[in-house]
Amino acid sequence: MLTKNKNSDIVICPSVLAADFSNLASDIATISTADWLHFDVMDGHYVPNLSFGPVVAAAVKPHSDLALDVHLMVSQPDDWFEAFAEAGADSLVIHQEVAVHANRSLQRIKELGCSAGMAINPGTPIETLYEHLPYLDLVLIMTVNPGFGGQSYINSMDDKIRRMRKMIEQSGYNIFLQVDGGITRDNIERVAACGANAFVAGSGIFKKSDRAAEIKLMRELAEKGYSG
Ligand code: DX5
Ligand code: ZN
Repeated sequence: MLTKNKNSDIVICPSVLAADFSNLASDIATISTADWLHFDVMDGHYVPNLSFGPVVAAAVKPHSDLALDVHLMVSQPDDWFEAFAEAGADSLVIHQEVAVHANRSLQRIKELGCSAGMAINPGTPIETLYEHLPYLDLVLIMTVNPGFGGQSYINSMDDKIRRMRKMIEQSGYNIFLQVDGGITRDNIERVAACGANAFVAGSGIFKKSDRAAEIKLMRELAEKGYSG
């Protein structure tokens, strides 16, 4: 299950997609001061890219104490729940745009002992999440169009994050508001001020030589901005 550091409201989630795949275990060791390991699963169908599956998740799991936050950018997410839960996933995050029987899917994720998350693409309204809030531990607002790391944050997502934070507050449910795509030291304070409290960062962390320092800086900046 996903939890947060008791000394901070902020969750930093380095994205494995930006790691050195030829030295995955040692590269992941450099981000051990983060909170969750963000694992971008892409099927080459829902998004125009192909990444990795449960066998890589199982290989990574013993090499990190971080929770494994699995982002399923796949057309048939339900087909993968058992395999990723078996591989050690702490969360399974499905896209609202492909969740035909979302209520059943979210309940199945919980039955498997994982935290349940739902992601929406930049063009998908937050209102599509409303009925699911009682079943969610995490909402993921995509701040780039999914499929690739290294893209730029879409600035119009600021307002969407503010509205999402308000919807979560009014619901009374304890739900992480995660953002994903183009998050760096240059925008994390502003995005936290909009109401996000969990931050995926691929290139923003892995492109730095001192990753521990970058994670520390990003956490401090986010804590400065966040008023949740
Ligand atoms: C994009 C993925 C993101 C991406 C983040 O489809 O969901 O998690 O890896 O990478 P950066 O932080 O480089 O935008
Ligand atoms: Zn992601």
